[in-house]
Amino acid sequence: MQQQFTPDSKCAITLAITGASGAIYGLDLLKQFTDHYQQVYLMISDAGRIVMATEMSLKLPESPKKIQQILSEQLDIDADKLMVLAKENWFSKVASGSAAPMQMVICPASMGCISAIANGASNNLLERAADVVLKERGQLILLPREMPFSTIHLRNLLALSEAGACIMPTCPGFYHQPKNIDDLVSFVSARVLKHLGIEPKNFTPWGYANSTD
Ligand SMILES: Cc1cc2nc3c(=O)[nH]c(=O)nc-3n(C[C@H](O)[C@H](O)[C@H](O)COP(=O)(O)O)c2cc1C
Repeated sequence: MQQQFTPDSKCAITLAITGASGAIYGLDLLKQFTDHYQQVYLMISDAGRIVMATEMSLKLPESPKKIQQILSEQLDIDADKLMVLAKENWFSKVASGSAAPMQMVICPASMGCISAIANGASNNLLERAADVVLKERGQLILLPREMPFSTIHLRNLLALSEAGACIMPTCPGFYHQPKNIDDLVSFVSARVLKHLGIEPKNFTPWGYANSTD
């Protein structure tokens, strides 16, 4: 049973972007989170940076400070709200249940990171942060992307679901008649925001626009 989150617990959130396809989803969530939270702790895996360069033509350096500066400028977000963490920053808040935000989203989530988290590896800060949220019975939302899923992927996803994570694959619906990629991305982001207890803007829930009554 997941705990209920009070408005106070919504002041900070952890976002991780890993090396699965769909960097655009992660960037959209980052932008939205900085609108809704006081503090966004961001981790981007090395493979995540490679995918970001490949898919978005956005080349991010290794330095967290520089990533913070580039993303703030590119996405026009308040730099004070964003804290980019290095993968071995074990003294950051997200590394301990005594200080970590109790909401964390991994988007996109690679099968590699799904495997590591499902097995409690905690080999880097990203994996540790997810482990912390699970052990503290917080809200961990995973947006995996792979096609097809192997039996191993499915077993790992089931293990994470059983441990309390919410598995939300990057699978946009088409019943809202998307006109472009942004419409597809917004659909996925809106579903994530809803799960975090945030009312997404410009989102028509099922049954309103499509009603024939
Ligand atoms: C352009 C590109 C696209 C990729 N797409 C996926 C994908 O959709 N799903 C996936 O699980 N791995 C994908 N990979 C492979 C992962 O990046 C790789 O397994 C990596 O080790 C994941 O590491 P991370 O979990 O630390 O980010 C992709 C790699 C590249 C370079």
